[in-house]
Amino acid sequence: MIQWRGVIEEYRKFLPVTEATPVVSLNEGHTPLVQAKQLAQIVCPGVDLYLKVEGANPTGSFKDRGMTLAVSKALEKKVRAVMCASTGNTSAAAAAYGAKAGLPVYVLVPANYIALGKLSQAMIHGARVIQIKGNFDQALNIVKELCQEDEFELVNSINPFRLEGQKTAAMEVCDQLGRAPVIHVLPVGNAGNITAYWKGYQEYQAAGQIRDLPQMVGFQAEGAAPIVRGAIVEDPQTVATAIRIGNPASWSLALRAIRESDGNIDMVTDEQILQAYRMIAGEEGVFCEPASAASVAGVRKMNAAGRLPEGSTVVCTLTGHGLKDPETAKNVSPEPQTVQATREEVVAALSI
Ligand code: F0G
Repeated sequence: MIQWRGVIEEYRKFLPVTEATPVVSLNEGHTPLVQAKQLAQIVCPGVDLYLKVEGANPTGSFKDRGMTLAVSKALEKKVRAVMCASTGNTSAAAAAYGAKAGLPVYVLVPANYIALGKLSQAMIHGARVIQIKGNFDQALNIVKELCQEDEFELVNSINPFRLEGQKTAAMEVCDQLGRAPVIHVLPVGNAGNITAYWKGYQEYQAAGQIRDLPQMVGFQAEGAAPIVRGAIVEDPQTVATAIRIGNPASWSLALRAIRESDGNIDMVTDEQILQAYRMIAGEEGVFCEPASAASVAGVRKMNAAGRLPEGSTVVCTLTGHGLKDPETAKNVSPEPQTVQATREEVVAALSI
């Protein structure tokens, strides 16, 4: 097979690009759709469960799909720099694609609430990283104001090109399954991705690529669940820092997606998220970050409530790689044992 060329080339006819668009790509997309039989036995017996492993993208999250398009269009517009607010992954992707494009990148992140891997990525790719003593919602407000001055291109998901790129994940799921799933479950933070997937499924149906549409189901973290509660959360808190958002930018678009698809948005606790996080790693060999596990925690909750039809195909998007947040992995796992460098001590420690 000729090398996969990234989402712009592979899905060009569905994307707002022309011959004049300089394509900035790291060959993102083409991520595994892994059947999760062992996990399903525990969280949703009788359901055909799949994991869309978006951590396999070049910077380790689904943001790459949107960033290839946002940065390519920014370059086409000849902007001076790109800018974003981020809980981490957007900044990592902006930094990488900005580096590839030769564009300066400015990112605002909440101080102390961004996972180590993500901060390291933004820094090594040469972005100017500003940590604010505040949360993501405050960072986004500041960035929106600054970007009105036009020379800076905002690359958060309120940039429509971001969602255009991210919709390719839904198309890929259909290409991999040969149809759409019955239910598609995602973690929800700023609510851009659930909106993008719904757009992708709808456009694939309109193009005759799939017959049926899935129900879109989103899960927020209980301490950061403004959409579920129907009110802005001033001080959002969750172990899943990626979705620690109290006032999602795509709130109304996400509501439309769940209404049109006959879906739902609900919430899961941090404890449920961490349980799912360990189960996905332990049962399926897939290491995702805590926010991603909200989808599987959500499936478990739906199953317990009897809301998953027997035999139905359910896809969970695992949005980011576990290595993004090594500290949480360490915190939920037993400490490795340290022994003397002798056969006897090692054998004793192995307790086999
Ligand atoms: N999962 C991960 C790993 C994320 O990084 C995000 C969002 C989401 C889920 C939620 O997606 O915002 O489209 O509903 N991260 C953004 C960021 C906010 O700045 O990296 P959403």
